[in-house]
Amino acid sequence: MIITSLKNSSKTANLIAKKLKCKYIETEIKTFPDGDIYLRYKSEIKNKKLIIVESFQPNSNEALYNIVFAGKTAKDLGAKQIILVAPYLAFMRQDKRFNSGEAINAKIMSELINNSVDKIITVDPHLHRIRKMSDIFKIKSKRLTANQAIGNFIEKNFKNEVIMGPDWESYQWADEIAKIAKTQSTCLEKTRHSYRDVDVKLVKEIPIKGKNVIIVDDIISTGNTMIKAAIKAKKLGAKSVSCVGIHGLFVENALKKMKKHFNNIFTVNTIEHNTNKIDITDTLIKEIKKK
Ligand code: R5P
Repeated sequence: MIITSLKNSSKTANLIAKKLKCKYIETEIKTFPDGDIYLRYKSEIKNKKLIIVESFQPNSNEALYNIVFAGKTAKDLGAKQIILVAPYLAFMRQDKRFNSGEAINAKIMSELINNSVDKIITVDPHLHRIRKMSDIFKIKSKRLTANQAIGNFIEKNFKNEVIMGPDWESYQWADEIAKIAKTQSTCLEKTRHSYRDVDVKLVKEIPIKGKNVIIVDDIISTGNTMIKAAIKAKKLGAKSVSCVGIHGLFVENALKKMKKHFNNIFTVNTIEHNTNKIDITDTLIKEIKKK
């Protein structure tokens, strides 16, 4: 088995290779002067099980393109099996045609991946209207979760805490994580007026006053959902407000805006970022090792 990465996940890929005691190989990826992609495996991959560790952020469009080229090239060079480990899978939020004429990103992305690798492993994909990975992936697919890693982290690092999901969708994570961390959970109800304008109100009553509130969500993109929730938690008397995001995209200066509202900002290392405090590689490795 050999491990590689493209542009986004070399730290994670190297950590996995080190823990698995297997070889990490460099893949050269750059552009020709006209902007066309140039990709070259620098080691022999024929008859090898190749693990491509590549998160879809930053630059999701480019990441998808790079993954397709890497997968197809590996097939062409005779790799025995090609497994894509994409700790963050992008394109999942545009999972239907909301307005006439729109592209359904999740479907197009999955078709390209189906044709490029043999298996995909990911962490907490944004499954909403698409209920399960096999609805869009014809190749083998595995959906892992960071709940256990987050729950353990919270149990170890917090006292007198409660978990809050900023909306109903996130309650699935908040509730599960609270059980692991042996604490209570609640969630807010979110009304989204536009991509950037979101309102929230508390749905399930639990004590918030004097508590260390940890707001948990799958994706932090502009950070607006988290910020609204933090403001609400403070209004309800929270002693401190921390946030845990599984996938920290932090677009449009999100981190800077969020720092004013949170005592702590933590993410899982599904997207490499300096807020990464929760390591998901052991969970990934268990699945990589399977036949
Ligand atoms: C949406 O359904 C997700 O679960 C997140 O709540 C959302 O992506 C967060 O976006 P933003 O950080 O831009 O508010």
